[in-house]
Amino acid sequence: MADLENTTHDFSVGHGKVILLGEHAVVYGRHALAVPVRLAVKANITDSDDGIHIYIPSWGTQVQLQQSPDNPHPMEETVTLILEQLGLMDQQMKIEVNANVNRAAGMGSSAALAVGIVRALNQHYQLNLNDHRVNTLAFECEKLAHGNPSGIDNTVATYGYPILFKKGKKNEPALIEKLTLGAPLPLVVGYSGVESLTLKMVARVAAARKKNPAIYQQIFDFIDSITLQGRDALQTGDWQQLGELMNVCQGLLNALQVSCWEIEEMIQVARQNGALGAKVTGGGGGGAFIALCPGNQQTVIEALNEAGYQAMEVTVNG
Ligand code: PMV
Repeated sequence: MADLENTTHDFSVGHGKVILLGEHAVVYGRHALAVPVRLAVKANITDSDDGIHIYIPSWGTQVQLQQSPDNPHPMEETVTLILEQLGLMDQQMKIEVNANVNRAAGMGSSAALAVGIVRALNQHYQLNLNDHRVNTLAFECEKLAHGNPSGIDNTVATYGYPILFKKGKKNEPALIEKLTLGAPLPLVVGYSGVESLTLKMVARVAAARKKNPAIYQQIFDFIDSITLQGRDALQTGDWQQLGELMNVCQGLLNALQVSCWEIEEMIQVARQNGALGAKVTGGGGGGAFIALCPGNQQTVIEALNEAGYQAMEVTVNG
């Protein structure tokens, strides 16, 4: 178990993440493996004299809190929760967010946003919050965004290192095992161009599981065992094995019906251009996919671009 309190961070940063293995099954108490996408969200607070403003230029978001009580912007709920919990609702401020991660793309943008804002408030108002408190508050925000989150997004957004994660039962704490990679992990992340709400995908899996609990139980157990083998491959840098596990996991995510046409096309393009493994990452139904591409990240990115998809290189160290 990692010593989570003794890590240092830039104060206003929230990390994005990609889930390598275990999404959806993690909601049902199985393990998941995730790595950070560094510096995804950076927030800054300045004093204002006319209320509370939120600006996120790259998402086209510009909101003043409590200006349209009948039709509040979705962002307002999150920011209000944070400010209430920190006793800052009577302050006037401008919250400016530089988001380098797409929204609703399966990369943990909502958790990164919450962590970035909490850290910026912590710094500006000198609140002395530790990482555990930042993580707990970001988890509360994730409940607003996702309904029934496992807690993996806010954990990676807060701590910013690769983890094996398993949510705690009832009042038990989650298992958060810090991992050391056997070598830098060469990923490509591609965007389907289809925005998809994790909330909806999680609800969809929940409804399907209710109808066929025994089948879903077995799929989740299978994903769990793949994830645990994936942890070993990640730590030894065995990319052949990790790629194979990602491909098998994608088959199971298909069984959960959380893929989509565009993701399937990207997966085929990546595999045909030499990716060792390729799969949905995060909630699915759109959003992003990941491919494991040692030595051929640029080739795969170019092939995806030619097929009409945006893609970027994400190499995860340590
Ligand atoms: O879509 P994302 O990046 O927020 O990832 C969601 C991962 C799920 O396992 C589907 C849900 C969860 O809370 O763990």
